[in-house]
Amino acid sequence: MSKLASFYGLVGLGSLCLVFLFFNQRYGSPMKHRIQPILAVGRSWEDFETTPEPYEFEEPVSNAAVVKEADDSVATLNEIQQVLNLQRRMIRDDMIGYQYPNGRYNKSAKRLEDLVMEKNGKPIRSVIITTWRSGSTFLGDVLTAHPGVFYHYEPLLDFDIVQIRGPPLASQALRNLKALLNCEYEDLDHYIQFGRGHSWLLNHNSPLWKQCQSHRRICYNHRFLSGMCKLFPFQSMKLVRLRLRVAQQLLADEKLAVRLILLVRDPRGTLQSRKHRSFCRESPDCSDPSLLCADMVSDYNAAVELQRKYPSTFRVIRYEDLAVEPYKHVEELFKFYGLDFHPSVKRFLDTHTKNDVGGVSSTYRNSKAAPFHWRADLEFEEVEEIQRNCVVAMKHWGYVHAINASHQREFNPITDYVLRL
Ligand SMILES: *[C@@H]1O[C@H](CO)[C@@H](O)[C@H](O)[C@H]1NC(C)=O
Ligand SMILES: *[C@@H]1O[C@H](CO)[C@@H](O)[C@H](O)[C@H]1NC(C)=O
Repeated sequence: MSKLASFYGLVGLGSLCLVFLFFNQRYGSPMKHRIQPILAVGRSWEDFETTPEPYEFEEPVSNAAVVKEADDSVATLNEIQQVLNLQRRMIRDDMIGYQYPNGRYNKSAKRLEDLVMEKNGKPIRSVIITTWRSGSTFLGDVLTAHPGVFYHYEPLLDFDIVQIRGPPLASQALRNLKALLNCEYEDLDHYIQFGRGHSWLLNHNSPLWKQCQSHRRICYNHRFLSGMCKLFPFQSMKLVRLRLRVAQQLLADEKLAVRLILLVRDPRGTLQSRKHRSFCRESPDCSDPSLLCADMVSDYNAAVELQRKYPSTFRVIRYEDLAVEPYKHVEELFKFYGLDFHPSVKRFLDTHTKNDVGGVSSTYRNSKAAPFHWRADLEFEEVEEIQRNCVVAMKHWGYVHAINASHQREFNPITDYVLRL
């Protein structure tokens, strides 16, 4: 009897386990089963922003003078020279067939040397101003799809999770940015030391990172970094910590001749995306809707002025517009920069924005839906809270309020409105 009982007991337990396993497999992780807005096989727009942002404190900065001296050894200088020679040849090969502006877009460059700093040329410089989780990684990656690009990825990482709106941080930040845009790494010890402990400072710059991986010894040598930087005809920079009021000083610098883009995103999308980032929670600049939207209002007011003052070197774009019509906007942006629409850029768009799921009519809902995730992922109460804090910002930038929970899931949050600054 007791044998029979334990037999049935075991069978019962076994079936329970099976049932549990079955349900766990099926429903255990609902995230996996949600339809993802797939852009490329296995890659979504959001993937572009999954790089961890720093919140660790940097390692103690080692005695910079000692580092510099040690870096001057003949072996090191030789190794640097060899890598630079190799990279110079690679860039020359990549640029074969490139359509130089040759007078178009207000750019006189006729050949590679005209754009290369080591030959006293003037590179094409792009700066993107935005904030955390606003789709900028995608835009940055589109631009770096071009082989001649040296990418200064978020060069203010070592300032921690803060927004720089003015003094006292603004002057140091601008000094660093101008040094980088001029490829002058000599006085950037803090930046370089930060990079040693945080690989994502440099690893978005793929030509640089490739060399770093096979030449670790010279990767953080300021001579190497300056030398590499000066070989590239296009300098691209993305910033999430600097507000437009401060950044306009880059535009004002005629020698730099930067083209500057302000990239804007719906605050509901930005905040939804930030919710899942632990680096963000600790800092009000990152997590507080009223601060985000005050920045959006301040950026708007600055943008109105800059549009008038610098009509050919300043531009605004909304992430949602870019996502819905990537080819149209990327092509316009390349014209704005005076860049040839290189085949590798088209290839990048082909592989990162095409979606075969669902045919033509569903394209909008699938591959173009990434910026609108928040409609399903946020509770209406959270949306209301953001909207309360963002009335002016949303009006300026053309974002529509959700009225109730069901409306939120269905509506189109962007108006057809054309930004009139
Ligand atoms: C070219 O530069 C001039 C003066 O800097 C400016 O007025 C003009 O709008 C620019 N044109 C283009 C196409 O960028
Ligand atoms: C939500 O708002 C929409 C649009 O105003 C309205 O048509 C709908 O009846 C509302 N639904 C509820 C449940 O209140």
